[in-house]
Amino acid sequence: MHPLSQTLALAALAAVAVASPVADPAVTQPPSLAKRATCTFSGSNGASQASASQKACATIVLSNVDVPAGQTLDLTSLNDGTTVIFEGNTTWGYQEWLGPLVSIAGNFITVQGASGAILNGNGSRWWDGKGDKGKVKPKFFAAHNLQSSSINNVYLKNTPHQAVSINSCTNLTVTGMTVDDKDGDTQGGHNTDGFDIGSSTGVVIDGAQVYNQDDCVAVNSGTNIIFKNGLCSGGHGLSIGSVGGGNTVDTVRFQDSQVINSDNGIRVKAKANQTGAIKSVTYSNITISGIANYGILIEQNYNNGDLHGQPTAGVPITNLTIQQINGQGGVKSGGTNIAIVCANCSNWTWSGVTVTGGKDYGSCQGVPAPATCKTS
Ligand SMILES: *[C@@H]1O[C@H](CO)[C@@H](O)[C@H](O)[C@H]1NC(C)=O
Ligand SMILES: *[C@@H]1O[C@H](CO)[C@@H](O)[C@H](O)[C@H]1NC(C)=O
Ligand SMILES: *[C@@H]1O[C@H](CO)[C@@H](O)[C@H](O)[C@H]1NC(C)=O
Ligand SMILES: *[C@@H]1O[C@H](CO)[C@@H](O)[C@H](O)[C@H]1NC(C)=O
Ligand SMILES: *[C@@H]1O[C@H](CO)[C@@H](O)[C@H](O)[C@H]1NC(C)=O
Ligand SMILES: *[C@@H]1O[C@H](CO)[C@@H](O)[C@H](O)[C@H]1NC(C)=O
Ligand SMILES: *[C@@H]1O[C@H](CO)[C@@H](O)[C@H](O)[C@H]1NC(C)=O
Ligand SMILES: *[C@@H]1O[C@H](CO)[C@@H](O)[C@H](O)[C@H]1NC(C)=O
Repeated sequence: MHPLSQTLALAALAAVAVASPVADPAVTQPPSLAKRATCTFSGSNGASQASASQKACATIVLSNVDVPAGQTLDLTSLNDGTTVIFEGNTTWGYQEWLGPLVSIAGNFITVQGASGAILNGNGSRWWDGKGDKGKVKPKFFAAHNLQSSSINNVYLKNTPHQAVSINSCTNLTVTGMTVDDKDGDTQGGHNTDGFDIGSSTGVVIDGAQVYNQDDCVAVNSGTNIIFKNGLCSGGHGLSIGSVGGGNTVDTVRFQDSQVINSDNGIRVKAKANQTGAIKSVTYSNITISGIANYGILIEQNYNNGDLHGQPTAGVPITNLTIQQINGQGGVKSGGTNIAIVCANCSNWTWSGVTVTGGKDYGSCQGVPAPATCKTS
């Protein structure tokens, strides 16, 4: 049974009034009953009503909600175990501000995109080709402070700026998420990161499709993070960092994924003259094609840009595993296959790496065996 139908059927069985929309169910229903209610919200008051009714609804259905300009669709006070379902088109008014457009927090939360549902940021209203600069652009989806929760089949379209921020989460599973910023390729989308992950433990992103104009995934800090069965297109690839400023990335796995038509395939960025740590990161079974800049780039001299100056030792990269990287002819002729610039890299595993089509990098440094900048 579709989860929504199931919820509705259960609600009906329990003989709970299904209010639609519910302005303030806490007033009209005893809390014990209301807690079992499925509440549906729509239109331009839907976001405010949903925020006001968080504690009263076991299931919150957001059906064709139009969020007013400058307002966050704020679901950060949900009861444990709440289900949030997006239906139809969710849209936002235009304003220059930092956002986020949606924020969801809580324990044992299930966020579900119904079939065909789209959260449409209509980002072209902000896109000016300047990304972080230029017009002030709202970030889209804040998944902060979610514990033991899941986000399933959510489709984000045309994000003004960064798409999904995962921060301070524990045991969050994201399945089947789409970030569709394809329009940004021709309409000035920039810095539209897919997933930015920080300060989180136990994050699994399975089956994501990201079409954008910056990192597909960037893990800045945290531990036990897995990205698998993903597709990245148009952006900057699968990234660690940048790390430096005391942050640590520990035990991250990118596996069984494709990076196509992007600036980079794999990129590990440690900042020069900073401290931090990058350890136990694995890239396994990654297919790369149509890469313009670097197939694989691992650098300890990141400084607001790739490969700037001398590498430094303060952000060691240890226990890195790069295996089964399928990139035969995957780098464009103007690009570079593999660049590694290290001052403190050790204990790497490197096998089954085939990245060709571009140039060899002439300035590799401190490459720990068995890694190599030579392609095969
Ligand atoms: C959502 O918007 C699209 C146009 O962007 C429209 O074709 C579609 O019918 C809308 N869906 C709903 C459920 O309103
Ligand atoms: C998106 O913005 C354009 C103007 O740039 C406007 O014509 C259109 O109606 C907007 N669509 C939505 C869904 O807000
Ligand atoms: C997260 O999951 C791990 C492994 O299942 C478990 O040991 C841990 O207690 C969970 N943490 C929280 C905060 O739920
Ligand atoms: C490698 O990843 C691809 C997806 O890119 C998947 O179809 C394939 O089954 C994976 N291979 C192995 C050996 O797991
Ligand atoms: C790192 O610090 C050294 C010494 O102060 C300086 O010469 C160098 O330019 C710095 N590197 C970067 C990339 O900022
Ligand atoms: C190295 O990384 C692998 C994969 O994450 C992990 O299983 C292993 O425990 C790590 N070893 C050390 C010494 O950290
Ligand atoms: C190099 O990395 C090791 C850990 O692998 C660390 O203990 C050491 O302090 C680092 N060296 C410098 C000069 O930062
Ligand atoms: C490298 O691996 C060896 C053997 O597993 C281990 O003793 C050493 O501590 C590791 N070094 C680092 C910096 O992780």
